[in-house]
Parts: sequence; C-alpha cells; structure tokens
Amino acid sequence: MSEILELKNVSVHFPVKGGLPFFSRGMIQAVSDVSLTIKHGETFGVVGESGCGKTTLANAMIGMVKPTAGQVLFKGVDLNGLPRDEFKKMRRQMQMIFQDPYSSLNPRFNVYQIVSEPMFIRGEDSEEEMKARVVELLELVGLSAEDLYRHPSDFSGGQRQRIGIARAISLNPSFLVCDEPVSALDVSIHAQILNLLVELQERLNLTYVFISHNLADVKKMCDRMAVMYLGKIMESGDSDKIFRQPLHPYTQALLAAVLDTSFDERRDQIVLQGDIPSPINPPAGCRFWQRCPKAMEGCKTVPPELIEVEEDHFAACHLVNGFPDVELPAGCDEPVDKEDVQV
Ligand SMILES: Nc1ncnc2c1ncn2[C@@H]1O[C@H](COP(=O)(O)OP(=O)(O)OP(=O)(O)O)[C@@H](O)[C@H]1O
Ligand SMILES: [Mg+2]
Repeated sequence: MSEILELKNVSVHFPVKGGLPFFSRGMIQAVSDVSLTIKHGETFGVVGESGCGKTTLANAMIGMVKPTAGQVLFKGVDLNGLPRDEFKKMRRQMQMIFQDPYSSLNPRFNVYQIVSEPMFIRGEDSEEEMKARVVELLELVGLSAEDLYRHPSDFSGGQRQRIGIARAISLNPSFLVCDEPVSALDVSIHAQILNLLVELQERLNLTYVFISHNLADVKKMCDRMAVMYLGKIMESGDSDKIFRQPLHPYTQALLAAVLDTSFDERRDQIVLQGDIPSPINPPAGCRFWQRCPKAMEGCKTVPPELIEVEEDHFAACHLVNGFPDVELPAGCDEPVDKEDVQV
C-alpha cells in the first residue's frame, strides 16, 4: 500500500492572545514536530485527551492550517508550496466530517443547497447535473430524493450526520478526515454511522483519518493509528500491534482506563495523576513525564525520539528505547520521586 499523505516534522504554534501588543505571552504548541505517513485506502486513527492537538493536526493535514514548520505532502506534493489555484484543486480531494451535525449544517439551507454547495462553489456543473448528483449522494448515504427540499431541523442527529457525509463526498474526495464523527450521536445511531463510513470507504476507495475519544471505535475502525499527548506522538503504527501490546506508558494508561468489555484483554488499571499540562510551556524532556507512573530522572530533560520498535510500531519513550547515546545527567535512569512533582 503506498502513501497518500506524509507529514514531515510538522509543528503548529498559535500565539497566545491578549496582553499588550508587541509583548509576546508565548506560543501554544498545539502540534510539535509530528512525522507520520498515511497509506492509500486505510483508516488512520488519532487518539489522545482533549486539547492534545488532534483537530489542529487534522487541519494541518488538509491545509486548513498552515504549519509553523515542516511539510505536508499529499500524493507527494507539498501542499503549502502550491500556487493558490493548484492548492484549491488539491484541497477538493480532502474533506472533513465534523463532530456536531447540529452546528455544522446551515439551518436556513435545504438539503439540496447544503449538499450541492461545494459543487456550486466549484462552478463546473449545471443545475440539472447538481440535482442528479445530490440525489445520487443522498441515496449513497441512506437518504432519498424526497429529502431534497427539507431543512436540517426536520432530521434526527444521525440523519443530519448523513447529510454532512453526503456533502463531504460530493466532490469525489480521496481523503476524508472524520473528527469525532459519532461522539455527538445516540449510542443506537453510533454503529449505523460507523457502518456507513466503512461501506462508503469500500465503494469510493476513500482514505480516512478517524479522530475519536472512543478507543473501542478506534479498535474497530482503524488499520493504523497515532496516540497524541500535548502536541506530540507518543506511539504510532499498526493499530492491532498497539492494542495488543501498547509500549508507551501513556497508551497503556489510556487503554487501561477503558472499561469497555469489548476489549479482549484486561489490563491492570493505571490511574493517571493530574491534568494535562499547558501546551504554552510544555515540559522540556518527555511531555508526559509529570504524569508518567514510570518516569525516570532523565525523562525530565531528554526528549524521547519516536523510534520504530518493531515493524510499523513506533514509540517515543526512554523506557522502551533506552536513553540516547549522548551526554546524560547523572542518575537519569533513577525513578522520579513523585512527591516532588507539581503538575
Ligand atoms: N486557532 C487557534 N488559536 C489558538 N489556539 C488554538 C487554536 N486552535 C487550537 N488551539 C489550541 O491548541 C491546542 C490543541 O487544540 P485542538 O483543538 O487541536 O485539540 P483536540 O485534541 O482536537 O481537542 P478536543 O479533543 O477537545 O477536540 C489547545 O490548547 C487549543 O486551545
Ligand atoms: Mg478536536
């Protein structure tokens, strides 16, 4: 399977708003030095606690946010190096499905207007062509021609998400980011929408990025995945391998926190202490060390590299990979005394 998207050392930093002009209050390091590859036709999961940078990373993937540093290569082409017209064309191949089907659809528009809007903006199709295409799309997502002139308020949450999906696939994209596509939906509809996504992926040869807090969904949907913490990838690669043998203490904690019985193996419960630290001044070494149950002294200052531990299974952890061969502070492999840690 070849790559459709590659991120090379991508960082996205936002200036902290407020305060005096010309007086920098620092940068929010939403995404820091992320490298990954996504293969044609796969579903790539992105997991991690709220605020760890999942949506920002996805926005950088599809060119909605310009990286502060690094490159985004879509089908081998650097998205941010393209002239405006070329970028627009490329961008049509990449679409997004949002979490909240209530706020992502314009309530004043009818279904026809909502779903045809991307075609309307592109300006290449006649009214008849657009109408025929919208009917085709509605049928693909389990709605019908009778729904054309109804408004979002006439539909249930699940049906609205179907409308959002119809709109997202209207220009025949090859790459779709699904940002928590079912987390706002009732449990009963949840599985139906996931099944629809799987069905469409097969029929339309789509590649998905699937962002979710629900690890059971990620396990079900994803071929490969990345576990993020405070803007960095802690572990990535083949999702079966990660679920079978999580290497990073953060991944272990995330999986252990899932009480869902759909996981085959039960693991010892690891309770994470404290909250996720601020992305404005993230810790210098491993970003997870303050909350890591296994942190060593060296983790405070030496940032771990993301290293391939087995085929397509990467981890960024000194416990797994050992400290790098550089000058290290004395006692770096001593455990951290947690009594001293202020999170
Ligand atoms: N446009 C922006 N301007 C300033 N800060 C931003 C912007 N977008 C995101 N951030 C900050 O970047 C960090 C990462 O945010 P992001 O929305 O990517 O996280 P997330 O993992 O998607 O969270 P959630 O699970 O809650 O959706 C947060 O600290 C957020 O406040
Ligand atoms: Mg988000």
